[in-house]
Amino acid sequence: MDKLVIRGGKRLVGTVTVSGAKNAALPIMAATLLAPGEHVLRNVPHLRDVSTMGRLMANLGAGFHLEKNRAILDCTEIKNYEAPYDLVSTMRASVLVLGPLVARLGKAKVSLPGGCAIGARPINLHLMGLEKLGATITLDAGYVVVRARKLKGASIYFDMPTVTGTENILMAAVLAEGKTLIENAAREPEVVDLADALIAMGAKIKGAGESIIEVEGVKKLKPLRYRIIPDRIETGTFMAIAGITGGDITLRNTRPDHLDAVINKLKDTGMKFRLAGKSIRVIGPERLKAVSTTTMPYPGFPTDMQAQLMSMMCLAEGASVISEKIFENRFMHVAELKRMGADITIEGGIATVRGVRRLTGAPLMATDLRASASLIVAAVAAEGETSVKRIYHLDRGYERIEEKLQSLGADIIREKE
Ligand code: EPU
Repeated sequence: MDKLVIRGGKRLVGTVTVSGAKNAALPIMAATLLAPGEHVLRNVPHLRDVSTMGRLMANLGAGFHLEKNRAILDCTEIKNYEAPYDLVSTMRASVLVLGPLVARLGKAKVSLPGGCAIGARPINLHLMGLEKLGATITLDAGYVVVRARKLKGASIYFDMPTVTGTENILMAAVLAEGKTLIENAAREPEVVDLADALIAMGAKIKGAGESIIEVEGVKKLKPLRYRIIPDRIETGTFMAIAGITGGDITLRNTRPDHLDAVINKLKDTGMKFRLAGKSIRVIGPERLKAVSTTTMPYPGFPTDMQAQLMSMMCLAEGASVISEKIFENRFMHVAELKRMGADITIEGGIATVRGVRRLTGAPLMATDLRASASLIVAAVAAEGETSVKRIYHLDRGYERIEEKLQSLGADIIREKE
């Protein structure tokens, strides 16, 4: 197992090219199951989750090849319809094959994901939506089995917006007979990117990015050639790094319009932003000012940036109240940040952070993807040496993070534990 060793305290300066979005690449890879033939995806990040999805696709009978951020998926023959426990337990996003498999083969068998480090994360809304489309659902030894002779369009209302739930239903509905309405749909840019990819395959979808999505089923889809959007959470994480180190970082190849809530919040900390097309220059102040936030579905402040903001607030002037509304257990980073000298108290889903003058390096343990990112944010600003163990979590979602940080002048190395 690898660990990262960071000597903090430097002002980080330079340019980073943002990678393709993990959470757009994963559903779009799954969507290629919907059409026989060879699909080509560009701007696909080299990440552990992408390899896991590639293994799952191969398990189903697809060809998968990733070279230089270009993925080729051959879905000519899909023979298998099962996502096994070992893959789903490694990556929950494996459930994204449910919708496309039912649409293509009339059946899917996917291991139930169970809870994870950030919460219970059920998939009841995915299953409710598939049932409305005419599928029958049974449970068999920890697996959910979904069958449908023919999917039929329906009206589906989500009690809460669910990102992968909306994506699963979109992928099932594009080949269903007739019209589907998804109400209270998730509006995240990754949902829009999936819809755009499906449209490029020949699907008829209106309203992606809004709360009501309308799908008119088509008989068949064609192979996809598509470029994945840039990763807004990677972009936001480097913004946090610029902020906490008082640095000056230009983020290239990104989408500033996907980060309105984050940029607005970070401006209140005293950070400066210069937007120019696909680039964002971010300049950190001498000392950050405390800001408070509540995580919300898009276009609100993203839960995937909550931990990184919290690390920034540990060194800010004043007190910050951070309320987590999406996942019930997403404060695993707090105990580790406190070991670095942070002053944080948690009550319910609310963390109160009182800014301190300095954090000190410590041996730390990564617990989930964004918690790991927050430890890196804290470590680059901390005095002395921090080692972050179990960074396989970080490798799930950040492409070449240590190389990108080194190019900004950070003292960071990857070592074998
Ligand atoms: N929920 C249900 N029932 C469902 C589905 C969701 O109760 O059937 C609840 C969840 O427990 C949660 C809320 O609805 O409280 C929203 O969860 P959502 O379904 O939107 O999350 P997700 O689709 O499982 C995706 C991202 C996450 C990101 C969340 C929220 C992917 C592959 N994953 O998860 O990304 O945090 O949306 O934006 O797109 C990450 O990248 O680190 C990550 C965890």
